[in-house]
Amino acid sequence: MSAEQKNGLTVIVLAAGGGTRMKSKTMKVLHPIGGRSMIGHVLTAAQALDPEQVVAVVGHQREAVGAHIHASFPDVVLAVQEEQHGTGHAVRMAVEAATQDGRSMTGTVVVAYGDTPLLRGESLRDFADEHEAAQRAVSILSGIVADPFGYGRVLRNDEGDVEAIVEEKDATPEQREVREINSGILAFDAGFLRSALPRIGNDNAKGEYYLTDTIAIAREDGLTVGAYAIDDVMQTEGVNDRVQLARIGAELNRRIVEGWMSEGVTVMDPATTWIDSDVVLGADVTILPGTQLLGATVVGEDAVVGPDSTLKDCEIGPGARVVRTHAELAVVGGEATVGPYSYLRPGTVLGARGKIGGFVETKNAVIGDGAKVPHLSYVGDAEIGEGTNIGAGTIFANYDGVNKHRTKVGKHARTASNNTFVAPIEIGDGAATGAGTVVRQDVPPGALAVSMGPQRNIEEWALRKRPGTAQASAAEIALAGRRDGDQGMAES
Ligand code: UD1
Ligand code: CA
Repeated sequence: MSAEQKNGLTVIVLAAGGGTRMKSKTMKVLHPIGGRSMIGHVLTAAQALDPEQVVAVVGHQREAVGAHIHASFPDVVLAVQEEQHGTGHAVRMAVEAATQDGRSMTGTVVVAYGDTPLLRGESLRDFADEHEAAQRAVSILSGIVADPFGYGRVLRNDEGDVEAIVEEKDATPEQREVREINSGILAFDAGFLRSALPRIGNDNAKGEYYLTDTIAIAREDGLTVGAYAIDDVMQTEGVNDRVQLARIGAELNRRIVEGWMSEGVTVMDPATTWIDSDVVLGADVTILPGTQLLGATVVGEDAVVGPDSTLKDCEIGPGARVVRTHAELAVVGGEATVGPYSYLRPGTVLGARGKIGGFVETKNAVIGDGAKVPHLSYVGDAEIGEGTNIGAGTIFANYDGVNKHRTKVGKHARTASNNTFVAPIEIGDGAATGAGTVVRQDVPPGALAVSMGPQRNIEEWALRKRPGTAQASAAEIALAGRRDGDQGMAES
């Protein structure tokens, strides 16, 4: 096949139908699955054909569907099908759009549906290549299935040549026995498609214009038609309801997880591991059970993630260890450790060999190389220098009730337990704080900040103020013991 033919390729994606069986406010093709919208998977597959143009036919909720397509695939041309009179009518709208505004449609036209998220670009390419090599007017991407109910059946004559597609509702009992089905994906010679579309009628059980009638039309014209059976029929399976959404979603995930295992990633429990389509994993990454890697997450070589972690749009450095963590838009440096029970919010950047420990929440926090926030802390709108250790139970008080303020802690500082850093403040390099300090003013480099007054003990307070309680009697016994001990000492 020549380069010109390839360049002439148009892909039409049908997505005007209502998808009522989803029973959703959200249009069917916009439902997320494997980290993309359903139609996002199909439009991504379409790009593998390196098409001249891609046309999406929108109808139901066309503003929402159109806006989504425009945002994620700005080159896709939108065709509007106001009322859905069938796949033949939908393609007519697409062809009108594909030939407007100076655009032209020559070469091959591939028609696909927007609700088949398992569809792979390579399969579309193989199909288009086969169609072009055979120089057909129409090719059907068919499949052999155990239960063909609901599908259009591919009808062949005694010689095995494809003659027509008959829809379930229009088929005779004998035709319904045929197990070769129309996946819905068809390839056309553009000239033939243009000539055939006006000749499609709607005299059938649904009263719709069936795109599949083009097969019989081509035969009448004496043109070549044929079917190319895809082995992996699931790729063309449409999602119509939420049960199928979950089933196809699990299958998509199974394929992605197996793909990464074959690339050298250890996945201890594939059934409880969820990896979105756009995630990237390095060699020898280990994923422990109950882990979700979502969005554009990237995990570097040798890192271990899980168990029970959700990372969305995160970047995890090589050799890092992330345990029981929820993180979004966070960056974790190489060989750093996070968790268990850590919550990393957007803007968290942990340096190499750093640590964010148990019950620590971070947000807009840049934590330097080797710096540690090991226990029970909130770090918001902060910068922590390299090698600094933040004491257990430290709160970076970033919000004064109206505005957010920043805290800066220098390098190699040692702040003690149960501190509050009232922003905006700066704690210098090598500075320290005492336990329980409320830091309201800047701490110069190397200084020790203490804010608690000297401790004062009011003797026998519990005995006077809590008489008759377990607290008072415990104190009484202990004090008596001390007095006996003192006597013993005195006697010896
Ligand atoms: C269609 C095929 C059938 C095939 C099956 C595979 C026809 C006549 N039938 O049947 O041979 O086996 O798909 O799943 O083509 N759409 C529009 N506008 C319309 C009608 C449909 O955009 O006016 C879109 C729908 O949103 C959907 C796709 O086209 O994505 C298929 O439409 P649907 O009504 O589901 O066709 P089927 O009856 O399943
Ligand atoms: Ca369908």
